[in-house]
Amino acid sequence: MNDEKKSSWERLYSSGAVESLPWFYPGLDPDFEQALESWGISGGQALDLCTGPGTQALALAQRVYRVTATDISGSAVEKASRLAREKGLEIAFQQNDIMDNRLERVFDFVIDRGCYHVFPLEQRAKYVPAVADLLKNGGLLLLKCFSNREKRSDGPYRISPGEIKKLFSSLFQIESIKHTVFQSGDGGREPKALFCVLRKRR
Ligand SMILES: C[S@@+](CC[C@H](N)C(=O)[O-])C[C@H]1O[C@@H](n2cnc3c(N)ncnc32)[C@H](O)[C@@H]1O
Repeated sequence: MNDEKKSSWERLYSSGAVESLPWFYPGLDPDFEQALESWGISGGQALDLCTGPGTQALALAQRVYRVTATDISGSAVEKASRLAREKGLEIAFQQNDIMDNRLERVFDFVIDRGCYHVFPLEQRAKYVPAVADLLKNGGLLLLKCFSNREKRSDGPYRISPGEIKKLFSSLFQIESIKHTVFQSGDGGREPKALFCVLRKRR
């Protein structure tokens, strides 16, 4: 990831309240909640990739999972880490660039809420082996991104089910891809999204 991109995320998180960011969702995103239940993931080591405000990591830690949470922005990690301490939750926060991964361990499952879709196509292709390296064999990647059905002009890249199948199939079994939305939690706009369950091949 180039320095300009890195510092734009850092500027964003160092300059204002995380609650005002458009992706801020105070509890566990309902699609992740449903997937954890229907796939019977009732414990284990979780990674919240690109944790940002850290709300998903906190919600997972409140539900018995042992959680690591990473983001490219040091300020995001610092703010989320402070919030976890205030709530008495133990989460291993670490600044990490998924495009230049320094984490040397693997997880039972990884959640990605709005990370994959921030990268242009050539980086999305690099993301796939990078995230596979962070999963145990047979582990699940739960990934939520903007879908190509979303018609607004701004925002992140739009992803089609066909792209997911094309880029992930060599390293992941495609368990499911469903059309959904990014729930706003406050009655605001709800961009169209894909929610994907991908299993790392053994
Ligand atoms: C749309 S936000 C989603 C944040 C969080 N997952 C959530 O749902 O609230 C995307 C996040 O990706 C992080 N990010 C961008 N590029 C990254 C990279 N190369 N490595 C790790 N994190 C990155 C940003 O700092 C930002 O927090």
